Amino acid sequence: MSEGLKVAVVGATGAVGSEILRLLGDRWFPVREVVPLASARSAGKSVVAVGREWTVQPLGPSCFDGVDVAFFSAGASRSKEYAPLAVEAGALVVDNSSAFRMDPDVPLIVPEINAHAMLPHHRIIAVPNCSAIILLMAVAPLRALGRIRRILVSTYQSASGAGAAAMEELRTQAEDVLAGRPAQPCVFDQPIAFNLFSHNTPISDDGFNGEERKVIEESQKILGMPDLWVTPTCIRVPVMRAHSESITVEFEGDAPSEESVRRVLEGAAGVRVVDDRAANRFPTPLEASGQDDVLVGRIRRDPFDPRSLSLFACGDQLLKGAALNALQIAEARLSG
Ligand code: A2P
Repeated sequence: MSEGLKVAVVGATGAVGSEILRLLGDRWFPVREVVPLASARSAGKSVVAVGREWTVQPLGPSCFDGVDVAFFSAGASRSKEYAPLAVEAGALVVDNSSAFRMDPDVPLIVPEINAHAMLPHHRIIAVPNCSAIILLMAVAPLRALGRIRRILVSTYQSASGAGAAAMEELRTQAEDVLAGRPAQPCVFDQPIAFNLFSHNTPISDDGFNGEERKVIEESQKILGMPDLWVTPTCIRVPVMRAHSESITVEFEGDAPSEESVRRVLEGAAGVRVVDDRAANRFPTPLEASGQDDVLVGRIRRDPFDPRSLSLFACGDQLLKGAALNALQIAEARLSG
């Protein structure tokens, strides 16, 4: 029992926390003890991780004694309150919330892209917004082929991004509608089954919603390109757990050839090219669900603008968009 790490998972009963628990046994670092934390409502429940059952404890200031790594996936206000306490107790914090992402002293990390931004003195590492991660997994490798000037992206975002209750709402509403009953919105303020709508974050005066603002600012920070133009339209769709994104990348000069883009993406860690024009087979959120890789296809140059190239990408929101990226951060940080 003395070997290995003591790992706390804040939000252990949630959509992302459950995936973190499931993945913990698969990583190279040994886990000695798991501390699943959630609200008082879940205290006493049992969860399984690394082949054993653990009892959920209510999140509190003394939960981090002796913890080596704490994963936070219980919303920004919990992270703001408890992540500093976890650091004080000696833990490395990997935070899935938006609490620290734009803090200049906190690295915002997609390990395949900017692991170098994590330094030994960083005790809180932020996991980017899921749409930003999936976008950049497809786009960042293209920097090897030319300087990127602008990204236009429309997202098709799954229910999982709004948590376990939103996934359940999609399931229940689909059953209700098929049975001839009206859909009852609760987590979202409009029906999610057989519908789609502008992302459920507040819109500011410039007409962009909170999710779109995250995609803009976080993309610039992760790529280290504060002047990059990013124009997103974020849409919620009735898909369970994988986000899809229609992406156009504009280069400073002529866009690279489709062949070179395919070659670069095929060599990129964490990316799988699904681009079979003959069979009309391209990425789908169903195929991306449960997969570590982000699927990328529909690789085509713009017929009207020689500088632009378009792609379609799908990635599991709960895995590469959240839990897997968090585990990869811990792994990279602990091995470095
Ligand atoms: P609980 O299940 O007890 O409400 P999701 O993103 O799927 O909605 O999950 C949110 C996670 O954050 C859940 O594990 C949830 O626990 C946890 N959580 C929500 N509110 C609190 C809180 N006040 N203190 C601790 N954990 C919380």
